[in-house]
Amino acid sequence: MENALDIKSLLEWYILAGVDETCGDECYQAQSSEVLPASPLRQATTSLSQNVIASKQNARDLCAKATTLSELKQVVENFDGCALKLTAKSTVFGDGNEHAKIMFIGEAPGADEDRIGLPFVGRSGRLLEKMLSAINLKRADVYIANVVMWRPPGNRTPTDAEVAVCLPFLKRQIELISPEIIVFLGGSAANALLDNADSISRLRGRWLEYQTSLKTFIPALATFHPAYLLRNCPQKAKVWSDFLRILKKLKEN
Ligand code: URA
Repeated sequence: MENALDIKSLLEWYILAGVDETCGDECYQAQSSEVLPASPLRQATTSLSQNVIASKQNARDLCAKATTLSELKQVVENFDGCALKLTAKSTVFGDGNEHAKIMFIGEAPGADEDRIGLPFVGRSGRLLEKMLSAINLKRADVYIANVVMWRPPGNRTPTDAEVAVCLPFLKRQIELISPEIIVFLGGSAANALLDNADSISRLRGRWLEYQTSLKTFIPALATFHPAYLLRNCPQKAKVWSDFLRILKKLKEN
């Protein structure tokens, strides 16, 4: 590194790559099973997806053995098949009422959630709690989870591979909670569980259905993520109408 300009551009590159923390002088290389062979791209890609498929199958097998939420939490905490765990401080499993009628699903833990080890405890979580109280619900009434259980570095969007590996754990939480209603907070959660790529603007505002692995259907509603609302206040009116839909459905059930 020759001069200040080089250092500045290196730091900028780190930030773009999602580095938001340093943990020593030495460069740390993930020692996961996803170390790519120094061979052509096609071969590397195949190797990576095979690892993902194997991790996903392993996650599924582990889930099938977990018959309670606390067993499942233990399984997730011991799971090493998701590379996000290497950079996260905590495993952020779902939290809330195990008998909840309604389950909220976000995308991934942020910095506060990673520090504390619980979902939605930062600014987005405080807004979510206000939204809940607007329909007479408290955090203790509901169950809150995320698609991935570890914070992506720099709060980047989880990759398809990370989502695929974590999804069995989320699906098992849904089975064990067995909520009457699911609310997807943002497009990532809706896309992961509905297995589509529609934008949140297309998905929100109407009842959808989530199909469980037991082939039952749970009414599901997608709405804007609280973090998006913090940046786009005018969209709160749409979320308010979504929450009124939820309230109506809860009263019908
Ligand atoms: N955003 C999420 O999607 N999940 C959290 O837990 C916090 C912020």
